[in-house]
Amino acid sequence: LNRKSFPEGFLFGTATSAYQVEGETHQDGRGPSIWDAFVKIPGKIINNATAELTVDQYHRYKEDVDLMQSLNFDAYRFSISWSRIFPEGTGKINWKGVAYYNRLIDYLIQKGITPYANLYHYDLPLALEQKYQGLLSKQVVEDFADYAEFCYKTFGDRVKNWMTFNEPRVVAALGYDNGIFAPARCSKAFGNCTEGNSATEPYIVAHHLILAHASAVQRYRQSYKEKQKGRIGILLDFVWFEPLTSSEADNDAAQRARDFHFGWFIHPIVYGEYPKTMQNIVKERLPKFTEEEVKMVKGSIDFVGINQYTTYFMSDPHLTTKPKDLGYQQDWNVAFNFAKDGKPIGPRAYSGWLYNVPWGMYKTLMYIKEHYGNPTMILSENGMDDAGNITLAQGLNDTMRINYYRDYLVQLKKAVDDGANLTGYFAWSLLDNFEWLSGYTSRFGIVYVDYKNLKSVFHPHDQVSCCALVFDLTERAS
Ligand code: GCO
Repeated sequence: LNRKSFPEGFLFGTATSAYQVEGETHQDGRGPSIWDAFVKIPGKIINNATAELTVDQYHRYKEDVDLMQSLNFDAYRFSISWSRIFPEGTGKINWKGVAYYNRLIDYLIQKGITPYANLYHYDLPLALEQKYQGLLSKQVVEDFADYAEFCYKTFGDRVKNWMTFNEPRVVAALGYDNGIFAPARCSKAFGNCTEGNSATEPYIVAHHLILAHASAVQRYRQSYKEKQKGRIGILLDFVWFEPLTSSEADNDAAQRARDFHFGWFIHPIVYGEYPKTMQNIVKERLPKFTEEEVKMVKGSIDFVGINQYTTYFMSDPHLTTKPKDLGYQQDWNVAFNFAKDGKPIGPRAYSGWLYNVPWGMYKTLMYIKEHYGNPTMILSENGMDDAGNITLAQGLNDTMRINYYRDYLVQLKKAVDDGANLTGYFAWSLLDNFEWLSGYTSRFGIVYVDYKNLKSVFHPHDQVSCCALVFDLTERAS
């Protein structure tokens, strides 16, 4: 497997997000986001870690870009921090923040690396949460579109690949159903979170995210796309859900899971409405798109980014009584299985949710091809983690990660050969970084970071090069 195994022009890159890698959360006029507030709540993040410094990309972006160049990557997927540009979410502009992204983008281009800019990776400006309850308010649709438009206007002469939201499902489910992500809302039954209503809030938030996405895309297409010759899409997380057995009940359970997980977003974007399964189960708790909104939402992607790490077996739980705490997750009415006939679904990474199941990649891409009209896709995240406390020497013994990447790339290539319309692949992640709830106890980097001295990020280029071994990036695509 090497670069020539993929179509001409197929891009290889790595992905990160602003909050996970930038650091300098208080400096140079950046306003706080809901994650800055969330990580301060004791017990939310392992070891109460924060991302105040993390890997300091805000200052070390040149080192990081040089690293990408030395590994022969073609593209870099990063995110822009909304509150670094608009500290209060709207209104006053922080020009120092603008200058930072100009520096980063210019340096990427100087080094021949194509910037892929994502506008939102979980980090809503805290001011908007305080002002109108953030994503629960429809006001966020317009405010997000204004922020997006400012970015097109300011960076769009150089950025030709835009993404509106990263994993809106995670935002809605983890932020508003079980409350384990910011802004930590959930029904009281779950405990330890701000009181919300998990039976309705995830659906309202998802609805606003879809409208905000579509509205930002509309603005791009109306005034920038043609002039700037760019494209715009969204990033969706796709776990592959495979029926545990061939029974009809398990098949239905797997299909429900697919619909509630990725159908929730891709279905409206491709077909203008939520999946029928969701409509039938969620009924009046599921918001409706007006005719006007359907026009805006349907077809609102030039490409879609797929984030995929793993696969699960799904079964029907055969419940005899309805769960009493009705919420988004209960609506699926499925059971998750990580093994079949006593055999694990695949080798487990450090994180308990992550199993190496490469065949799920092939099935996912063929499913999207078949059910969603084979849209232009990028594989926007894929990777595995090991434990935060491993030493560099242990990190360099990277067999499991090398196997993971090779096996997934083989399946990706098979899907491309069978007609899946993919134009690029991004490994998560360039460097170890702040891994949300796990803080620094989980390492997703293809490059090891020494956290002993947070200011010194250790980049052992050639040594940890699972890239050279796996991706064989000996030549650039462009
Ligand atoms: C995402 C992911 C990343 C994670 C990665 C590993 O939302 O795109 O949460 O930010 O770091 O998926 O868990």
